[in-house]
Amino acid sequence: ASTLAGAAQQSGRYFGTAVAASRLGDSTYVGILNREFDMVTAENEMKMDATEPSQGRFSYGNADRIVNQAIGQGKRVRGHALAWHSQQPSWMQNMSGSSLRSAMLNHVTQVATYYRGKIYAWDVVNEAFADGSGGGRRDSNLQRTGNDWIEAAFRAARAADPGAKLCYNDYNTDNWSHAKTQGVYRMVQDFKTRGVPIDCVGFQAHFNSGNPVPSNYHTTLQNFANLGVDVQITELDIEGSGSSQAQQYQGVVQACLSVTRCTGITVWGIRDSDSWRASGTPLLFDNSGNKKAAYNSVLSVLNNV
Ligand code: G3I
Repeated sequence: ASTLAGAAQQSGRYFGTAVAASRLGDSTYVGILNREFDMVTAENEMKMDATEPSQGRFSYGNADRIVNQAIGQGKRVRGHALAWHSQQPSWMQNMSGSSLRSAMLNHVTQVATYYRGKIYAWDVVNEAFADGSGGGRRDSNLQRTGNDWIEAAFRAARAADPGAKLCYNDYNTDNWSHAKTQGVYRMVQDFKTRGVPIDCVGFQAHFNSGNPVPSNYHTTLQNFANLGVDVQITELDIEGSGSSQAQQYQGVVQACLSVTRCTGITVWGIRDSDSWRASGTPLLFDNSGNKKAAYNSVLSVLNNV
């Protein structure tokens, strides 16, 4: 196949990208989007601050632009994200206790209900584990409402949209030997044991020289899949250029292809100039929209299955 989506479809997988509503008027951007990708994640437009800017008043304009563009082109949508310590609307940031807990659950219910039937998978909870060697939860206003806030969010999402896959999504969970990876693994194991509704785990996969692609990446993805969840690479980008960057991309894609339950890969933007990273060249297309060496290596490994 000659496109990322077409090549991924040969093994029943998807190949997606983050999309920014502000770029939907850029014809080069939209041309690549429509040609190469079959899954879309809103880069910012479905987050809590965007969808509930004042309490109880929901705002879906930019999110709908992305969702309708994707569905109109026959693409699917990953929802990102229902509950997160970051990018909370200002009214939520200083809330605590039972009022925050009910505001969070209401947000999950309202947004998942609004998009019911349109979302392939939701990142129900994003980035709830701490960095470092402890393997525990990240401190946040949501965490301080009680350790069960994550499962409460998953139960609310399931009730609101029973057809969507429900994912836990995080970064720096790629290396199997890291405490954070182990902490997330134990939570998913516990959820599966107790019947908390969880269907998938997202690995953001933001790599750079300080956080390289680990050699045990396949082990990590396979061990999570063995818990009975799908795994997905949800926000892939890799700092670098040329053949070194191309090889690292190839390794990540190969790790996913070698795990049956790794159902798809999403890159976090289209051209280097679309990346959230202020400088650098972490994506598959250059600033002019030309395919980079990394693009060619990803396409060829997808076509090798
Ligand atoms: O839209 C406003 C604009 O009006 C304003 O003038 C400007 C001034 O700062 O800010 C603009 O908003 C920015 C927004 O991106 C859109 O560009 C925010 O400040 C900025 O904080 C925001 O950054 C986003 C970041 O999440 C926030 O946490 C990035 O675009 C987005 O790529 C990034 O994505 C996250 C995932 O959601 C979770 N995993 C990590 C990943 C990378 O950080």
